[in-house]
Amino acid sequence: MLTELDQIQTDALAEIIGIDSDSALEDTRVRYLGKKGRLTAASAGMRDVSKEDKPAVGQKLNEVRNAITSALEEKSAALIAIRDAAAFSGIDVTLPGRPLPKGSLHPLSHVLDNAVSVLRRMGFAIADGPEIETEWHCFDALNTPADHPARNESDTFYFENGKLLRTHTSSVQIRTMETEAPPIRIIAPGSAFRRDEIDATHLSAFHQLEGLYVDEKVTLADLKGTLEFFFREMFGSATELRFRPHFFPFTEPSFEVDLKFHATGRESKWIEIAGCGMVDPNVFQSIGQTRGDAAYDPEKISGFAFGMGLDRLAMITYGIPDLRLLIENDVRFLSQFS
Ligand code: DAH
Repeated sequence: MLTELDQIQTDALAEIIGIDSDSALEDTRVRYLGKKGRLTAASAGMRDVSKEDKPAVGQKLNEVRNAITSALEEKSAALIAIRDAAAFSGIDVTLPGRPLPKGSLHPLSHVLDNAVSVLRRMGFAIADGPEIETEWHCFDALNTPADHPARNESDTFYFENGKLLRTHTSSVQIRTMETEAPPIRIIAPGSAFRRDEIDATHLSAFHQLEGLYVDEKVTLADLKGTLEFFFREMFGSATELRFRPHFFPFTEPSFEVDLKFHATGRESKWIEIAGCGMVDPNVFQSIGQTRGDAAYDPEKISGFAFGMGLDRLAMITYGIPDLRLLIENDVRFLSQFS
């Protein structure tokens, strides 16, 4: 029996050496180690081996099984290695990979995210309104008379149905007060549109950030404190603010806000940055008429509002010389803000 086992091992190993496919390898395994394989059949002969020879024959049987099994495994690994080598042939795997360009946020998004996070810390919630607006929400309810220049065909994009592309985000003040009762503390970032000649400081589609705070006993001091805190968070604690009397139809009194901030390598000068004021009682009256309740009784409540250009905020933050850079989508420009 020992010679028979030796013979099985010699045959199997010789066969395995010449094999060049997985299926032939499996075929061989079955023929030697399978249920009806040669080695399995031979091991049935153990029955007839004498008691004193059994340990030696048993040991031989194991050795042969192990030898065949490892020869099969080695061959299988060798076949895989040959396949891998074929797949890689012609490819230099030591070449460095191609870097994937990493995207970055648009400078406007950076500025907006910053502004929103400062204002949210102060308790302002985000409000929204449509870009295609009615004249009522954009002008009338905001105390803007029919002959106001902003309502002119030459300044505003009108649709044939009388609606228009909102010229400012102040319309969101009206939208919010129509549906919500005071106290109101909202900011509304969004697009606005004007029939402007496009140049370094004007775009016909631009971005604004509106703010509105309505409650009992809101004062001008609250407005100043809020904007001072906001701009110092945005541009540094040494930032100076100046409130200049101005006129807006929807606020009384109204102001323009100038800002001077100090940054190394940048000239410090006064820059106009926002419009603001105390909500005009006429605005509350219009809201009262549409709502049909006394929630906005100008005798009981007051409020402040402000609005600023986000594009301008981005220009100032990053020292961008030309507004058009913000809409040209030039990767050489945009990748500087990652
Ligand atoms: N809507 C104004 C504009 O587009 C900006 C503005 C001024 C908004 C005063 C306000 C405000 O809320 O109180 O020029």
